Amino acid sequence: MNRRLIVAGNWKMNKNLMEAFTLASGVLAKAKKMSNKVEIVLAPPAPYLHTINSMSKDIAHVNIAAQNCHFESNGAYTGEISAEILHSMKIAYVILGHSERRKYFQETHEILAKKVTTAVKAGMKIIFCCGEPLEIRKSEREESYVLKQLEESLFHLSEAEMQQVVVAYEPIWAIGTGETASPSQAQDMHQFIRMQIAEKYTSEVADACSILYGGSCKPSNAAELFAQKDVDGGLVGGASLQAEDFLQIIQARAKQA
Ligand code: 13P
Repeated sequence: MNRRLIVAGNWKMNKNLMEAFTLASGVLAKAKKMSNKVEIVLAPPAPYLHTINSMSKDIAHVNIAAQNCHFESNGAYTGEISAEILHSMKIAYVILGHSERRKYFQETHEILAKKVTTAVKAGMKIIFCCGEPLEIRKSEREESYVLKQLEESLFHLSEAEMQQVVVAYEPIWAIGTGETASPSQAQDMHQFIRMQIAEKYTSEVADACSILYGGSCKPSNAAELFAQKDVDGGLVGGASLQAEDFLQIIQARAKQA
């Protein structure tokens, strides 16, 4: 298996300036001494990206992610940030398709497909989020729901471009709720996603694509999630806001690397 093991922290709209630098410093001081078998990704709010990227630049296994970008590469879009701008700042990743962006900012499949294209063409890696709401899970339609998200917004990429993609499966019913997908629910969906990538592209592309789990991932459940063969790491929200919890999740991944 040649895919990367990744633990990413999505800070969402949290932490003021001082808190953000305290958290980043705390994580980076320990990350420096950790195994480089696990790639650590920090996704702070946009205003902190440049400084936190500079703080982490000497630690090769740490990368920084933006939480969003616009679908155009530049222009009169007041308040927006483009993938080109992020790439020029040497920000490695952008998270796209997060369920909060889909829900609160009306990001449709079509808009996301454009964002995916623009980010990949700008040279960024993307963490593409997918995942179903509770009513879809209850009616056992989660696979077709997730497949549509992949088909409509991701599968237009070429085989070469897919190498810039990390997928994050985040069931909406598990985000910020304290309720986690069981290890077998996570494994089943991750395996399904990998199969779809293999069918659309090749088994080599699918084997090389890291698929992260997100949704109430925390120190107490990380090890059993990461023990699943298609769960390559985590996209962590709440638990990434405390250095100690986040570091424990990274350790849980490193132990099974
Ligand atoms: P929580 O870990 O807080 O459930 O959030 C998950 C998430 O949305 C990460 O992107």
